[in-house]
Amino acid sequence: MKGLLDDFSDGEGSSLERLVSRGVSRRDFLKFCTGVAVMVGLPMGMGAKIAEAVMNPKRPPVLWLSAQECTGCTESLLRTNHPTLEKLILELVSLDYHETLNAGAGHQAEAARVKSMQENKGKYILVVDGSIPVKDGGIYCKIGGKTALSLLEEMGSQAAAVVAIGSCASWGGVPSAAPNPTGATPVHEIFKTKGIKTPVVNIPGCPPNGYNFLSTVLYFVTFKKLPELDDQGRPKFAYGRIIHENCERRPHFDAGRFAMEFGDEGHRKGYCLYKLGCKGPETYNNCPTLLYGDVGSGAWPVGTGHPCFGCSEKGVGFTMPLHSPSRPQYLTPPSLFTEVYPGKEGVAPGVKALAAGFAGAAIGAAGAAVLSGLGKKDDEKEDKKDKEG
Ligand code: SF4
Ligand code: SF4
Ligand code: F3S
Repeated sequence: MKGLLDDFSDGEGSSLERLVSRGVSRRDFLKFCTGVAVMVGLPMGMGAKIAEAVMNPKRPPVLWLSAQECTGCTESLLRTNHPTLEKLILELVSLDYHETLNAGAGHQAEAARVKSMQENKGKYILVVDGSIPVKDGGIYCKIGGKTALSLLEEMGSQAAAVVAIGSCASWGGVPSAAPNPTGATPVHEIFKTKGIKTPVVNIPGCPPNGYNFLSTVLYFVTFKKLPELDDQGRPKFAYGRIIHENCERRPHFDAGRFAMEFGDEGHRKGYCLYKLGCKGPETYNNCPTLLYGDVGSGAWPVGTGHPCFGCSEKGVGFTMPLHSPSRPQYLTPPSLFTEVYPGKEGVAPGVKALAAGFAGAAIGAAGAAVLSGLGKKDDEKEDKKDKEG
């Protein structure tokens, strides 16, 4: 299937060959696959399986439906400072329809959407960004004369899986903020109401981290099933821990050292931002370990000196006032740690469970470290050596 994105359409050769031709080295590609494997909690060796799956010349078809959104989810994938992520996304999947990126327009774009759906029925991945307005028959968002609601029903019911990217698609996000004038509704709720059985994975965030999105898609492509999800349909590898647990300012929180105002001495010294309204203590996401923009340490909201506002957490972002205090789930470290059994060898089951949890977080962090190191100078030197033989 030749996609509308001619520049990235299916051609001869594997995904790896196409990536190499676009300046992504083999080393980066294999590091990336290993990083994805480790990040989603698989043994490092599974990176080879992921690489094998995505090197298939027939790339998995992806259709992307945009409803009530700001295009930030798309832009954040494409405008990374380091180009690796955008190249990976556009080369590893066949993006057959995307309202922002379509080369064609009008009837051409509509024809490509229908053609891909017919040729790949039951096999394509549908990505949805934006919430779906349901009030007044869904008239507040139309694409090609059809409501987003009817398009979601049509495209979602024939997909292999649906990825709801961003907080708008995952739980309503900005458009659903009170008084929610358009009846903005998340994808999974529409499916529930309409009885559509296609599995949905939520990747919330405003915008979410592109690597969480790509890792989820590649997991599905490789194993033909979604990664393990939590009770809100989020992949556990990305949303299994609260931000507060992995935040570099956590020692200041524990020691009671807080910034009280933007620009005060505590703020300048990097103290905890809890008293400025940080929602890290009640937001599940891997922002402190995965970081953003491929630019290195500190590149995440709290790292730059602004409190987390809980953009990915239902009932927090766009719901709670920006600078109101959050409701910490764990007040102090001792409340996290269960006691060692007195008078017995070994540790309490709770300690083991906790240790397993930390190991899980460490695995995620290790994967994140690999992913965030892609394309760095050391690699460039190694690639040069490889080429020189
Ligand atoms: Fe825009 Fe945020 Fe909604 Fe994504 S989740 S479409 S970035 S408002
Ligand atoms: Fe970090 Fe915010 Fe927790 Fe402070 S309250 S440790 S800034 S996540
Ligand atoms: Fe969003 Fe908070 Fe992460 S604002 S990007 S969930 S640090």
